[in-house]
Amino acid sequence: MHESGSELGYTVGENSSEYFQFVLKPGCAIRRWEYVEISYPDHSIVGRVERIASRSDLLKDNLGYEGVERYVKNDINEIVDICTGSTLGTVENGKLTKSRYLIRPGTLVKRAGVKILTEIFNPPEEGALNVGTLIGREDVRVSVNVNGLRRHLAIVAQTGAGKSHSAGVIMEELMKKGASVIVLDPHADYVLMRQGEGGRSYSPFIRIFRTPLSTGRYSRDNVGIVEDFTLRFSDLEPDEISDIMGIKENWTNLRKIVEDMHSSMKGLKDLEDFMMSTEKIPPEDRKKISARIRFIKKIKSIFSTRTTGLKDYVSPGQLSIMDLSGMDQYLANYFSFRVINEIMDAKVSYDYEYPVFIFIEEAHNFIPPGTNTKISQTIKRIASEGRKFGVFLVVITQRPGKIDQDVLSQCNSQIILRVTNPLDKKALMDSAESISDAIIEDLSSLETGEAILVGEFVRIPIIAKIRERETKEGGGDVDIASLLIRAREERDRNISIEGDRERVKNIFGG
Ligand SMILES: Nc1ncnc2c1ncn2[C@@H]1O[C@H](COP(=O)(O)OP(=O)(O)O)[C@@H](O)[C@H]1O
Ligand SMILES: [Mg+2]
Repeated sequence: MHESGSELGYTVGENSSEYFQFVLKPGCAIRRWEYVEISYPDHSIVGRVERIASRSDLLKDNLGYEGVERYVKNDINEIVDICTGSTLGTVENGKLTKSRYLIRPGTLVKRAGVKILTEIFNPPEEGALNVGTLIGREDVRVSVNVNGLRRHLAIVAQTGAGKSHSAGVIMEELMKKGASVIVLDPHADYVLMRQGEGGRSYSPFIRIFRTPLSTGRYSRDNVGIVEDFTLRFSDLEPDEISDIMGIKENWTNLRKIVEDMHSSMKGLKDLEDFMMSTEKIPPEDRKKISARIRFIKKIKSIFSTRTTGLKDYVSPGQLSIMDLSGMDQYLANYFSFRVINEIMDAKVSYDYEYPVFIFIEEAHNFIPPGTNTKISQTIKRIASEGRKFGVFLVVITQRPGKIDQDVLSQCNSQIILRVTNPLDKKALMDSAESISDAIIEDLSSLETGEAILVGEFVRIPIIAKIRERETKEGGGDVDIASLLIRAREERDRNISIEGDRERVKNIFGG
């Protein structure tokens, strides 16, 4: 990398307060998205190179091969490299403001210095969350401001682009700040945060709640203490029992039957008692409800003598991972509803005074457009009034078009990683004014872990490489190639006769 502060060229042609173009000094290497600085005695304009072009007035496209070759062989070329950029702002007395100064042709353009870029992208603020580095300038750290999360955050990208990784980084930073953090984790992607070298430092502040249905592949041996995430049957209202049984809210007949069963229990209280009460309802009702009864019997392990409650999962500086794996969506909905509804109640009644952040993985499954379930109502309520009470959402999804659009547009900050699907891009465009055409253009070309940060938590849109995790990741992409190496080893161990082994070698190579 060239030194920061080095001269890159002079502005040429038409320039304005928003755009500039400069001719590149011979021998200077430059990449797209590099940061430049135009300095004046009392202020500096900082810009980003958006486009690099090279052209020649001599080597015309109608010259033909021989014509071009003649020039090239005689070392006659009049190539000019032109860089076009947009201004990010003006730094004046250490403060960043919108740039309103005219840039004249013939002005010297330099590579931006670390100091000025750090003033812009990593200002010393109490609420700074360290999320990564500038792309093109790995020597400049990037932070976002926690106050910007007041109006929620969305993390959006296609699968494998780095959503869960980024969410983990934000969780780490929030924990450092003492935030109370909950994650609804349908695939047990976050449980390994408790494990491993880096993760060890966080483990006292991470609690994992696992239902007996969990299919997450981890154990006490590799993550330490795992707590049960259970319900006490007697704590449930008839409506909640129906929710757990997978009875939709508009299936009023079945709901009525559950209510009748519940009221006939009188003083009795556990699941056994409830199932026994089918004896007391009319045979035709018994028949209607039987499939649902069989279902609740199948998942009876979720009931225990205790309901996991707010005091378990909300505490300053604590990350609570709610492992929802192995559950049907409506069961996951019910558990999630219980958790976040309880949080909202506590916050509305001022029972818990500190900020709470709720991460929702695979959010499109909890709030698809046009649904009116308890969980979706609660999430919508937090999206619209959570900030008044100090409850903040982090919505994670690979389907920006398949999630309630109100919730998405209430998320005033966004971490957007690679997105190539045009429909998803359009949904993103529609969700926020701050997402410009230029940003949308760039989304397809992002590498894994590269993100565009826009909205309230940054002062200007930032293209950043999200930093490495300090905690261990789970649920990443499978490495097929390395699994196949192991598969081949097993295949070869299974060959018993020496001659066969030779034959395999001849067919596939050694
Ligand atoms: N900023 C990053 N730095 C290094 N590796 C990353 C980064 N972001 C993602 N990865 C890796 O890329 C893979 C996919 O990331 P993941 O967060 O699981 O994607 P998603 O949740 O969007 O499907 C994982 O193996 C992860 O470790
Ligand atoms: Mg993921």
